[in-house]
Amino acid sequence: MHTPVSLSVSEPQAVADGEGLAVQITGAGLSDLAARAADCRLCRLAETRTQVVFGTGNEQADVVFIGEAPGQEEDRRGEPFVGRAGQLLDRMLSATGLDRDSVYIMNIIKCRPPNNRDPKGDEVQACNLWFEQQLDLLQPRVLCLLGRVAAQTLLETDAPLGSLRGRWHAYQGIPVWVTYHPAYLLRSPSQKKKSWQDLLTVQERLRGL
Ligand code: URA
Repeated sequence: MHTPVSLSVSEPQAVADGEGLAVQITGAGLSDLAARAADCRLCRLAETRTQVVFGTGNEQADVVFIGEAPGQEEDRRGEPFVGRAGQLLDRMLSATGLDRDSVYIMNIIKCRPPNNRDPKGDEVQACNLWFEQQLDLLQPRVLCLLGRVAAQTLLETDAPLGSLRGRWHAYQGIPVWVTYHPAYLLRSPSQKKKSWQDLLTVQERLRGL
């Protein structure tokens, strides 16, 4: 995993260590950003959400998994991917030797859309304020995008998921691998093997970094 960095978005202050080998940027980090996002009212979803679902996991993780938006269970518990789809994601992670403590998990938007509809463009745009700062703080080496909505949104394309899978992309210079959303895998279990292979591809890439 990369060297821990605590980075303030609002008031960065560089501090070199005694030997000048590491630079830590002190100040507010992810927990501060999460605290500020908790009161967000930048879009209409603030009216209907129970709580903001910021993201969870290892803040020094090399890989960040990104889904589309919290569902009902996530909205209730305040954590991403804790419903049925999330349980499948957990099983898939553990089958490849990963778990929630070794990765970071988040969504492109932080509040549940009513009836789990797709996020609207202006909601994604509003939430981008939090999303970009969160990624800046995490500094992952690889992103793994879960499903069509996350993939099409971040890669700015209308291409179907099937055509985005199987090759590397980039988001702001970070290597990106696209795989199926675990909710889709619950409906189409025959695709699980491909998703498992996707996770192995991500791990191989991390080993080579
Ligand atoms: N689906 C998502 O895309 N994200 C979650 O957090 C839960 C379900």
